[in-house]
Amino acid sequence: MMISKEMAARLNVQVNHEFENERSYLAMAYWFESIGLKVFAKFFFKQAGEERGHGEKIAKYLIDQGAEVVLGSVAPVQVSFKSAKEAAELFVKVEVKTTTMVHEIVEMAVREKDYATHDFINWKVGEQVEEVATANEVLGMVKIAETPGQLLMLEGRIWQMIEKG
Ligand SMILES: [Fe+2]
Ligand SMILES: [Fe+2]
Repeated sequence: MMISKEMAARLNVQVNHEFENERSYLAMAYWFESIGLKVFAKFFFKQAGEERGHGEKIAKYLIDQGAEVVLGSVAPVQVSFKSAKEAAELFVKVEVKTTTMVHEIVEMAVREKDYATHDFINWKVGEQVEEVATANEVLGMVKIAETPGQLLMLEGRIWQMIEKG
């Protein structure tokens, strides 16, 4: 194995965390679907897919470094929300927490002089800047929309975000 046992364990925490994020966004997508906001639902389905991709990418790195991928038990995620604003707030919270966790891996890599993991996880540092910005953009828009009708109109903007990638 080319990384430390501690680093392998820490990266496995991250893999499981990314898959938990996937489930959080799936839950949001289903909730938006249930209240008829199908473009918001589509946005969160796509977001869930990205989280799955992050988990898989880190898992692949563990394999490449000769470490085992350890999938733990899955925690229940929030499935219902009082409002779109509450869902968007959780979106921001999840991304900020993920960013903190990624930064911890960077610090650990520096401490261990683990240049390979440092180089690898740098991708995720940049990625998180975009993720937090996207989450804040969604929250900002949802905060302005006060009625269901306004949320429905907002879906045009959300659609543009989906297309932008
Ligand atoms: Fe992620
Ligand atoms: Fe994310």
